[in-house]
Amino acid sequence: MMERKWIIGAAVLEVITIIIIMSGWSVEGIGVNWGTQATQQLKADTVVQMMKDNGIERVKLFDADFRSMSALAGSGIEVMVAIPNDQLAAMTSYDRAVQWVRKNVTSYNFKGGVNIKYVAVGNEPFLKSYNNSFLNVTFPALQNIQNALNDAGVGDTVKATVPLNADVYQSPQNNPVPSAGTFRPDISDLMTQIVQFLHKNNAPFTVNIYPFLSLYGNDDFPFDYAFFDGVSNPINDNGVLYTNVFDANFDTLVSALKGVGYGDLAILVGEVGWPTDGDKNANVANAVRFYNGLLPRLSSSKGTPLRAGHLQVYLFGLVDEDAKTIAPGNFERHWGIFRYDGQPKFPMDFSGQGQNKLLVGAKNVVYLDPKWCMFNSDATNLSKLADNINYACTFADCTALGYGSSCNNLDANGNASYAFNMYYQVQNQNDMACNFEGLAQITTNNISTPTCNFIIQINPSSSTSLTPSLAVAFLFIALAMIFFF
Ligand SMILES: *[C@@H]1O[C@H](CO)[C@@H](O)[C@H](O)[C@H]1NC(C)=O
Ligand SMILES: *[C@@H]1O[C@H](CO)[C@@H](O)[C@H](O)[C@H]1NC(C)=O
Ligand SMILES: *[C@@H]1O[C@H](CO)[C@@H](O)[C@H](O)[C@H]1NC(C)=O
Ligand SMILES: *[C@@H]1O[C@H](CO)[C@@H](O)[C@H](O)[C@H]1NC(C)=O
Ligand SMILES: *[C@@H]1O[C@H](CO)[C@@H](O)[C@H](O)[C@H]1NC(C)=O
Ligand SMILES: *[C@@H]1O[C@H](CO)[C@@H](O)[C@H](O)[C@H]1NC(C)=O
Repeated sequence: MMERKWIIGAAVLEVITIIIIMSGWSVEGIGVNWGTQATQQLKADTVVQMMKDNGIERVKLFDADFRSMSALAGSGIEVMVAIPNDQLAAMTSYDRAVQWVRKNVTSYNFKGGVNIKYVAVGNEPFLKSYNNSFLNVTFPALQNIQNALNDAGVGDTVKATVPLNADVYQSPQNNPVPSAGTFRPDISDLMTQIVQFLHKNNAPFTVNIYPFLSLYGNDDFPFDYAFFDGVSNPINDNGVLYTNVFDANFDTLVSALKGVGYGDLAILVGEVGWPTDGDKNANVANAVRFYNGLLPRLSSSKGTPLRAGHLQVYLFGLVDEDAKTIAPGNFERHWGIFRYDGQPKFPMDFSGQGQNKLLVGAKNVVYLDPKWCMFNSDATNLSKLADNINYACTFADCTALGYGSSCNNLDANGNASYAFNMYYQVQNQNDMACNFEGLAQITTNNISTPTCNFIIQINPSSSTSLTPSLAVAFLFIALAMIFFF
């Protein structure tokens, strides 16, 4: 009898252990950034379904676009909505902030609505390249938005935060270790006030950390230090060994927070990821190496040397965005874990077990016809070729042609074909868009090469529309309000 009880007890214990281990396996509530700066957009509903199919539980947006919000309604996915930098000045008016909150937060706060958890006030507003343009408006906007949330009665569940670039903090050149981290001297008073305000409201600090950018344009940077599988010379910070720049960067922030008296402030990693094209280090192999280090780490809930425990991160980004500015570099349009058409680029395992499987791609994507635009090899007068390629690349994305990129090994004709095709696809295969003064022709042969994909764009007529159910819900709310007042 005793023995049998013991066996049952042991079996129960084993099941519990397995459940605990299994829950430990999955990357708790993986988040993604959903940017929409693409010439041809996937339907918002398609994107939300893709997130659900892959168990993505959190999403960070860069605005509060009605189409994205409608698609997210009822999904249960936790949402960070955002106020773009160019609207920060307006939010220094409290009344304006109240309007924003009413329209873009509380109007979604109903059963079957949008599960909004955070409002991002600006996006990396203190980046040095912005020349202090948002220095005076960000903190007042943050205060007004959080106060408006509080006054609307949702401040307990919806928190305002400012996603900041990791260049708001640093460690001194003569002692470049995480424990010596402080906020950037030119903004340290401002950062202190922001941190105090976040703490008072129980809101998190949000930081974007990019090991890829540490490497980019810095050939002295120790390559392996950008990844998670060890280095020969770890950084020794008073006995704590740092083997990757992600941990070191994160802990530099923890130290900076400690320095102003808030070493325990919650931290969200607003963006982290690796691009797959547009630079010699931006490729699938490096992205796989990066995520194969990052994801198991996140699922282990080990944290960093200075901040043990679960790290909440939003991967950057969900899909490629071919209309983003390339001011930071050609890689800027290739951050997606999915391609422009919602298809996975490489094996990726959110459970953190490093399984060699693909994510679930977007379903029911409608493409344009299988037609490409290419260089017309019968053309004899090539004096206008350069101008025409230039024109195509001004209005379409040719970043894959650059040095170290996937299409850099094309010959001169291939270059022209690539540029012409990208333009033709962006113009939705309009016949007029494949002429280029007689230098181009349409083909139904797939002219892709083993490394360079000549894409077919997605069909814009299958683009986002308003979900009927949500439209009806909004109609009811509008009617209810008319009757109420
Ligand atoms: C709500 O968000 C949208 C999208 O970001 C923005 O264009 C609009 O101005 C906001 N509404 C208000 C009332 O501020
Ligand atoms: C910042 O200033 C530099 C140099 O004056 C200028 O080239 C750049 O366009 C400015 N950037 C912005 C965002 O205003
Ligand atoms: C910010 O405010 C300070 C003090 O009022 C002022 O000197 C500075 O010019 C302002 N900066 C910008 C970019 O508006
Ligand atoms: C090639 O085209 C240019 C511009 O259309 C023209 O000026 C030039 O004379 C042409 N060259 C030949 C050899 O036809
Ligand atoms: C093709 O274009 C790329 C990018 O503009 C350039 O680096 C390369 O030299 C070109 N190749 C040829 C053969 O013209
Ligand atoms: C064209 O060929 C490439 C390389 O073989 C392939 O990856 C791609 O799917 C093809 N495109 C279409 C539209 O069939």
